[in-house]
Amino acid sequence: MATATFRLSLTTPSPGSRQRHRHARASASATDRHEVVSPKRRLPLRKVPGDHGPPLVGALKDRLEYFYGPGGRDGFFASRVRAHRSTVVRLNMPPGPFVAKDPRVVALLDAASFPVLFDTSLVDKTDLFTGTFMPSVDLTGGYRVLSYVDPAEPNHAPLKSLLFHLLTHRREHVIATFREVYGELFALMEGELARAGKADFGERNDDAAFGFLCRALLGQDPADSPLRDEAPKLITKWVLFQISPLLNLGLPKLVEDGLLHSFRLPPALIRKDYTRLADFFRDAGRAVIDEGERRLGVAREEAVHNILFAMCFNSFGGMKILFPSLIKWLGRAGGRIHGRLATEVRNAVRGNGGEVTMQALAEMPLVKSAVYEALRIEPPVAMQYGRAKKDMVVESHDYGYEVREGELLFGYQPMATKDPRVFARAEEYVPDRFLGEDGARLLRHVVWSNGPETASPTLQDKQCAGKDFVVLIARLLVAELFLRYDSFDVQVGSSALGSSVTITSLKKATF
Ligand code: HEM
Repeated sequence: MATATFRLSLTTPSPGSRQRHRHARASASATDRHEVVSPKRRLPLRKVPGDHGPPLVGALKDRLEYFYGPGGRDGFFASRVRAHRSTVVRLNMPPGPFVAKDPRVVALLDAASFPVLFDTSLVDKTDLFTGTFMPSVDLTGGYRVLSYVDPAEPNHAPLKSLLFHLLTHRREHVIATFREVYGELFALMEGELARAGKADFGERNDDAAFGFLCRALLGQDPADSPLRDEAPKLITKWVLFQISPLLNLGLPKLVEDGLLHSFRLPPALIRKDYTRLADFFRDAGRAVIDEGERRLGVAREEAVHNILFAMCFNSFGGMKILFPSLIKWLGRAGGRIHGRLATEVRNAVRGNGGEVTMQALAEMPLVKSAVYEALRIEPPVAMQYGRAKKDMVVESHDYGYEVREGELLFGYQPMATKDPRVFARAEEYVPDRFLGEDGARLLRHVVWSNGPETASPTLQDKQCAGKDFVVLIARLLVAELFLRYDSFDVQVGSSALGSSVTITSLKKATF
């Protein structure tokens, strides 16, 4: 623990922090009475409140409340904040027994404390991609793929370089392929609307997303391969085998909790499907695999399974959650916002020779802001973890909290990006929130990529390798939508992975 720093800091607190001190003493803990302050911002220190309960029972109680308690997942975390009057608390994260050995975490539930998870000098990210348990490597060809690798490990940098290459080596194909594939999606949706009066976005989006990714990034249409049109279903099943202990599938509670949350699904049941996917990427990814072997020293099979994971879990999985979410928030935003977006998109495209180009996209600030706002209000990957590399003090807005080396820090991102101390009307979708200088200043608090939106991923950190690509394709979706339609309506439900969105009307472009 940085006690030396604490002792040095035993000076009289500033008048502002004296006020906070009184509050700290009123609300808890022996530590508070020492009148010590945190080293960085000189906040009063507080012991992390909350407890993990008795072994097994505590974990099971928390798991049941997380999945089935009032208010669901959000309610679970909000109730802890209320009970302890603290946005940093101890609790157990699912799945717990018998999947995870140790479910105990220190939860970070505000915008001030959350970013400690990005600092790889303070936290170790080894094997924490899915949280307190790691799926069997039998599900990833026997390899620990990049998402589980800490930047201090020797294969992190070559593997991340490989994925940067995957995302950029055919960059000139991305926009045209996106427009072609998602153009077909909208044509199919129009047909379905005409026939049935409504059209499910999710299923069409799954097909389009995988086709787009393979055609744009690998130059191969999976429909022309032995995978035919089956990949989205195979991948969804494969993802389920990895993260079933974390999902609420809407099955009867006893079955779901007693089986899915308590045991792992046996990888052997999905081996054949995985082999089909790996065979496809071994062939379709040849150019990227060659580059990995020649320039980066990545063994060919390790490249295959990393490309597969990046394309199927990170990219397809991300699009499966983000795109319906984006359509949902835009749909709910209503006709006036639709009108502003359509005007902006069409003016920018007309000003660029009728083409959607990077320059045209740069001239769409409202589109940009509307995408950031969707990523803020509903970050597609809600949870991040990091293990404290040393004793340290984690600061929330009001207090410093002592954390010991080896403790697991967990951040629930929606509470960081909907922190009312940072964002006004934090629970509302405000599409123009990020416009102008004031809006730009808020962008560092948009952290969907496991880092601030104002930073770029590097070989030394764990920020999402696909950050720029994701923002680009999300903008392309909004642009495509408003080039074609003046307005649209949606019906929204929930699904195991995010929102289920049905389009109920598409009003064709009139200007
Ligand atoms: C909506 C889409 C996406 C979302 C929400 C998303 C989110 C994230 C998050 C939160 C992390 C950090 C996880 C952690 O360590 O705790 C991450 C890491 C990563 N993402 Fe993404 N991602 C998306 C798309 C993509 C795409 C398209 C790629 C394509 C290559 C990608 C590749 C990666 C990789 C390789 C890492 C690990 C980075 C490292 O080890 O340094 N992601 N992503």
